[in-house]
Amino acid sequence: MSRLDLSLIEAALTTYIIARSKSNELWDEIGSTNDRAIELAHEGAAEGTLVLARQQTGGRGRQGRTWVSPADSGIFASLILRPTIDASALPLISFAAGVAAAQAIEHVLGLRIGLKWVNDLVYGGKKLGGILAEMPGSQTAAARATDSSDPKSPQWVMPPAVVLGIGINLRHNNDELPPELQGRVESLDRLSGKQVDANQIVAEFCNSLEDQYNNLRHSASEIVLAEWKHYSATLGKQIKATVGNEEVEGLAEDIAESGALVLRRNDGSEQLLYAGEISIRLQDGSYS
Ligand code: BTN
Repeated sequence: MSRLDLSLIEAALTTYIIARSKSNELWDEIGSTNDRAIELAHEGAAEGTLVLARQQTGGRGRQGRTWVSPADSGIFASLILRPTIDASALPLISFAAGVAAAQAIEHVLGLRIGLKWVNDLVYGGKKLGGILAEMPGSQTAAARATDSSDPKSPQWVMPPAVVLGIGINLRHNNDELPPELQGRVESLDRLSGKQVDANQIVAEFCNSLEDQYNNLRHSASEIVLAEWKHYSATLGKQIKATVGNEEVEGLAEDIAESGALVLRRNDGSEQLLYAGEISIRLQDGSYS
């Protein structure tokens, strides 16, 4: 079984920013890599800092859910970014991460996974991974850079951080999953029929993420969205979503420039969904 190893990952990087910090960390066990990355961001860690763990005891998913993270069962990674891009493009960072994950998996394993809005990694309707992008609150403590700052300019202020967390299932045992996840989870070992090299996946994810992040930094977010649509497992599908107290249904028609999902409701009207979870109608008429 391949175990996460920072030196192997660093040796396979082609990046300038992503995972190039001297403060990268790999933990045998941690509460949540996102929590640790938020802590490091507050302390002024440089853009690109990578926090990895072999196991999380308090892994967090979107919408306050738990991310079940037993030892060596998945890739648990968080990156600190300090984007100076237009605020309207910030939500697209998690789209960039979805694209990077899909590209990395295709590059390393030849497997074409799908992206389910807003940012689930899926295969055959089952969940293979997810992305949790967070903006740590007030960063007054990060005003003084402690990492990669110019020592001659101690007053240099770092841009606020976005912490980008990603979890990808490497292996799973259906019987050991909580009942609500049974039959709904996929993993790379099972899909590829071999033991996947997690270090290669992480390195390729970082390499692809740098390209996609550069697209956002150079105001070419349409490239990120086009790539996302290429891997989409959502567009063209009949979907259901809860917006406030209302359940809406219709065709997932497009992704707007903002990252919102363009829903063509069954009554013909158009609605933009900005956040939340959707379920996709399967061939048997049920929703997953
Ligand atoms: C989702 O709900 O789909 C998002 C899951 C994100 C899980 C990853 S695992 C690494 C990082 N640390 C966390 O606590 N969560 C993210």
